[in-house]
Amino acid sequence: MKIRTAIIPAAGMGTRFLPATKVVPKELIPIIDKPGIQYAVEEIMSVGIENIIIVTASGKESILEYFEQRQPKGNSISSEGKFAQIAQLDQIAKTVRIKSVLQTEQLGLGHAIACASEEIRDEPFAVVLPDDLIFGPKPALQQLLDIFHTHESSILAVQNVGSENISKYGVIDPTQVDGNVLRVGNAIEKPAPEEAPSSYGIIGRYIFTPGILERLSEAKPGAIGEIQLTDAIADLTKYESVYALDIDGKRHDVGTPLGMLKAAIEIGISREDIGQDLSNYIKKL
Ligand code: G1P
Repeated sequence: MKIRTAIIPAAGMGTRFLPATKVVPKELIPIIDKPGIQYAVEEIMSVGIENIIIVTASGKESILEYFEQRQPKGNSISSEGKFAQIAQLDQIAKTVRIKSVLQTEQLGLGHAIACASEEIRDEPFAVVLPDDLIFGPKPALQQLLDIFHTHESSILAVQNVGSENISKYGVIDPTQVDGNVLRVGNAIEKPAPEEAPSSYGIIGRYIFTPGILERLSEAKPGAIGEIQLTDAIADLTKYESVYALDIDGKRHDVGTPLGMLKAAIEIGISREDIGQDLSNYIKKL
């Protein structure tokens, strides 16, 4: 079964990044010079998925504009042809079809995914949360796809997030299947540490069978009063096998200012143009 579509939920208000998010969608805030959401789009493109549905909210139209194909005109930056970064963006526009659907009410991540269900119909699909940036030997989505092709069941990216952070995550109740592959028996959104069934938190990459859309259509508000994707996953385990993969890679939560700063430093240090100067500067601080 080929995965042809990925959903990027990007309808949140971005209150952690106020005042910038008064006019700039959080997903377009650059990590150094590249908007956070572009990392998600590039990861999706790198695994050969051609359709991307971005779930946005009113006032965030610039996200789609950002990815639109540029028309060469006059002496605009795109027609000068000497900016590799713009060429990269043009490549995205040529390779993937990006659409948006509106989430008109902020009812949670599960609701955001359900908003895109018309576009999915009865195929398996991927979900990529742009707040989770994962750098590893292989894209996290590719790691999931490799397992999906064996089991043809829904599969979630997880990592050991430690008990002190557990209540920020969807947490799975796992049994080990093989190496880093786990079977999900249950899942709880943002549990209190003493209620967490494990220290495996879900980290923003998912592949779902269409069964999740049915579970979401029946979902009721859960943690923090929102329709939670994790609750629908827990429900799905009663009908189908659901797996999780302990992802090989370093994850950054760029949904918080500190997480974004850490990601920027790490990306900066590895860059040829600024890496050396940046690490010298940090050493001297
Ligand atoms: C969301 C999901 C949660 C997941 C987390 C990963 O939570 O609801 O299950 O573990 O992303 O980043 P949020 O960070 O939006 O509160």
